[in-house]
Amino acid sequence: MPDPLHFDNHAEVYERARPPYPAVLWAELHDLGVLRPGIRAIDLGAGSGLATGRLLEAGASVDAVEPGPALADRLRRRWPAAVVHADTAEQVELATGFYDLAVAATAVHWFDLEVVVPKVHRVLRPGGHFAVWRNAFGDPTVAITPFRERVAQIVARRTAAEPPRVHGELGTDAWAARLSASGHFVTTHIRDFPWSIDMRTDQIRDLFTTFSDWNPAEVDEAARAVDQLGGRVTEHYVTPLIVLRRNESANA
Ligand SMILES: C[S@@+](CC[C@H](N)C(=O)[O-])C[C@H]1O[C@@H](n2cnc3c(N)ncnc32)[C@H](O)[C@@H]1O
Repeated sequence: MPDPLHFDNHAEVYERARPPYPAVLWAELHDLGVLRPGIRAIDLGAGSGLATGRLLEAGASVDAVEPGPALADRLRRRWPAAVVHADTAEQVELATGFYDLAVAATAVHWFDLEVVVPKVHRVLRPGGHFAVWRNAFGDPTVAITPFRERVAQIVARRTAAEPPRVHGELGTDAWAARLSASGHFVTTHIRDFPWSIDMRTDQIRDLFTTFSDWNPAEVDEAARAVDQLGGRVTEHYVTPLIVLRRNESANA
């Protein structure tokens, strides 16, 4: 079972290893009018602040919610302008009707949605938005690379040995349906952002170490595969974005 504190146990690696979200995603949030200077935003499951930092740079004031103590500490040091709550999205105490935008970046699959969705509805102002995205590491629409073949072999061995996980494996439309199922939100926008990145062995080692479902032996094997492929691979990723609007007729 993946451990939500996995990220906190690797806080330093997490901060250097996770690639930023693509610039086009931030441009899209601007173009949709969801991210504007002066808004109040809340970043749920903020990690080391990949989204917190960009929200601040866009002129938002930001509350960042992160239960991992080491990550919360890093957030405070790296982004002193953010108000950091070292707590879970389920338990954190937040003012009602205060925020214009709630964000969950590669984090929503960790939340108890029965608690968090009504809570996000409550803390948003009328007309507020909930933007949910994740980095999917791998892009099924791109021809499989030799490195991805090796990754698939490692994952296949693990999934043959373990019962299948349901955690985080929904597609984007299914996530949008889950997030709007209670009627608190209406999905207004879904878009996939594909992107690519060249990574060295040490970068792949760091990045895969941050994956909560990869054990150290598997990470070693992935790093060895990069070495055998010349020490550098091109990875194709996709970042699906779901934008939901607060449903004003829903009861909290
Ligand atoms: C994959 S990381 C994403 C971090 C960051 N948003 C980013 O984009 O890099 C998932 C984060 O969710 C946090 N998390 C796990 N369970 C949580 C919960 N119940 N409430 C809030 N955050 C949670 C973890 O501590 C971790 O920092």
